[in-house]
Order: sequence, then structure tokens, then C-alpha cells
Amino acid sequence: MTVYARSPTPLAEAEVSDTSSVSAQIEICDVTKLYGTVAAVKDFSLTVRRGEFLTILGPSGSGKTTALMLLAGFVAPSKGDILISGRSVAAVPSYRRDQGIVFQNYALFPHLTVRRNLEFPLEMRGMKATERARRVDRMLVRVHLKDFGDRMPSQLSGGQQQRVALARALIGDPPILLLDEPLGALDRNLREQMQGEIKALHREFRKTTICVTHDQEEALTLSDRIVVMRAGRIEQTDTPEALYDRPTTRFVANFLGEANILESRDFKIEADAAQPLGTVAMIRPERVCITAPAAPKRADADLRHSVTGKVDDMLYAGPLRKYQVRVGRSLVIVREQVASGQQTFRAGEEVRLEWLRSDIRFVTS
Ligand SMILES: Nc1ncnc2c1ncn2[C@@H]1O[C@H](COP(=O)(O)OP(=O)(O)OP(=O)(O)O)[C@@H](O)[C@H]1O
Ligand SMILES: [Mg+2]
Repeated sequence: MTVYARSPTPLAEAEVSDTSSVSAQIEICDVTKLYGTVAAVKDFSLTVRRGEFLTILGPSGSGKTTALMLLAGFVAPSKGDILISGRSVAAVPSYRRDQGIVFQNYALFPHLTVRRNLEFPLEMRGMKATERARRVDRMLVRVHLKDFGDRMPSQLSGGQQQRVALARALIGDPPILLLDEPLGALDRNLREQMQGEIKALHREFRKTTICVTHDQEEALTLSDRIVVMRAGRIEQTDTPEALYDRPTTRFVANFLGEANILESRDFKIEADAAQPLGTVAMIRPERVCITAPAAPKRADADLRHSVTGKVDDMLYAGPLRKYQVRVGRSLVIVREQVASGQQTFRAGEEVRLEWLRSDIRFVTS
């Protein structure tokens, strides 16, 4: 469903001209939302910069939609406040918040043509018919649906309907865009294509965008920053690179990609940094090298940690080989790019695993 909410003061046509694309800063200050005794969102604080693309990522039930609904004004906080461009919106109802919203099921008005779906929010603003038509034409071209204006939503594919939903959220030029699992209903190929589309729209319009997803790859591809949620709370907020490379908790390390936790019973923990109390050592599977036990030592051997183990299983995954190697009671996952002439190890073979001490990360468990 796309909802278009009107500005506190209806904007004059000149103010919503195509050059008026402005974005807003959002501050969420210590917000909690209780349903009975259950905190769907707890002690949530976050500042979203103007023009930023921020993704809220987390497993099912972690509070992502609730956080977005709080922002949209469909749900009121039990505690805390939300500021947009420095002003509290506590008393501003959802229909008066200037935000474009796209929900997962992109429910377009089924009885209206694509063109009429896009015109609707503009009509709500009292925009003249000629200006409406001009804007709709431009937006249809922008989302590659120039020849689809007279179709009904039921005559469109899922990806096309999703593009209409995005166009409808954008057409009134709201400073904020809220997207809840916008690509959740699409198959993998189409999702990737639409990710590119969303990215291009963001580059062009620079709306402050908050996108909710449980898809890690989508979050890593689209976002300037990602908020990882767990059980209503923020676990970590960072850039995609930092979250992947420097997760602070075991949950984040496992949620974004695969992580080998090196239990001290099976590994001597050697890292460049000292291990902080209450943490475990972690290494990403693509940072582990696998060789024959008798392979000559590398030039940088003194920077490395080396351990022997036995291959438990090997999987081909397209351009990758994925090994599971047993070391003591632990299973280490190794992911390596397939290159020509490279040795393949079979289940049962003895191998040596190596990694750079500087690639070890410590995460709280
Ligand atoms: N209206 C409601 N009444 C009671 N509990 C609710 C309500 N809405 C959400 N919850 C609870 O709050 C928690 C967070 O729900 P929310 O919908 O925000 O999760 P989510 O992260 O969006 O999950 P999903 O990925 O499945 O969409 C859940 O435990 C849910 O059961
Ligand atoms: Mg949800």
C-alpha cells in the first residue's frame, strides 16, 4: 500500500515543483512502544541525516515495522519523541506528515488506472489537472512505464506494480520516504533489478529514506547506514562495510554473513589486539586459507595463525568452494574463490587452515 500524507500547510504548486526536492533530518529520541507488557521497540535512538538511505535490518518480530509505523505516525510512542527537521511530530497525525510510504504488498488502488493512481496524491494537494498530467508523464518515463499509464494494476507484473508504488510515493516530492520490505514479494532476479532502480531513484531525488528489510544482501546493497535490530532494540548502527568488517556482537556477525566463532577450547587465540573481557574471537570464512598440511609456509607466516583439521564436507556454490573443516569439536567454514589449477580437498583429508592475526575480530557473545 502506498500512503500519501499531506504537509501541515498544503503546499502551493510552485513549492512542489520538480526543483523543490528537499529532504529532512529525522531524530528518534529514546522511543519505546509497548503493546501490553511487550516492548515491540525499546529505547530506540537514532538520527537519520538529510538525504541518507538508512536500512532497518533484523529478523522477524524484531520491531522493524513498528519502528517505521512510529515514524509514519500510524503508531504513537509509549515513551520518547520523534523530531523531523528539529520539530517534534508527536502531535502531528500521519496524514499531515509529509512522507511517501511504500508497504510490502504495494496495494495500488485496484479500480484506478496507473495514471490515476499517480495523480491521486497530487489531486489531494489541489494541483491543477494540466500540472498533474505533466508530472505523471514525467514520472512514468522515469520509472520506465511510459506506455502503461492506461493499464489497471491487475494488468501489471509484480515488478511493474512495485515501480508504480514507488512512483506514487515519490510524485508529491515528499522530503521523507519510508519503505517497508518494498521488494519482499518479488523473486530474486527482479529484486536485484529493483534494488538498482531504488538506488538510482535515491541518487536522483536524494530523499531521506528509511527502508525496512530482513534481507541482508538488500541492506548491504542499498544503504548508507544499517541499523540492526534484535528483540526491539538496536544492536548496532553502522555503514555496511563497518557492520560486516567490524561487528560488535555475535548476533550481528552471524546476521550479516557467516561467522566462525573460534572457541578457546579448540583454538589458541592469536590476534593483533588484546581480547576484551566477555568477548569471543570471530573470523569470516573468506579470510581463512586452506592448504595441504605440507604446503610451504607463506612469506608472511609470522603474521598468521595456523591450525590443522580434517575436511568434513565440501560444497560447490557456483564460483565458490565452501569447506567445513573439523578442528577439535569446532567446524570452521572456509569460503574460497575457485581459480584454475587450485587444489580441491575431499571429505576426510587433512588440511591446514591459516588466517591473518589482523583478521580476527572480537565480538560480545
Ligand atoms: N498491534 C500489535 N499488537 C500487539 N503486538 C504487536 C503489534 N504489532 C506488533 N506487535 C509485536 O511487536 C513485535 C515487533 O513486531 P514488528 O511487526 O515490528 O516486527 P518486524 O520486525 O516488522 O517483523 P517481520 O519481519 O515479521 O515483519 C512482535 O513481537 C509483534 O508480535
Ligand atoms: Mg515487518
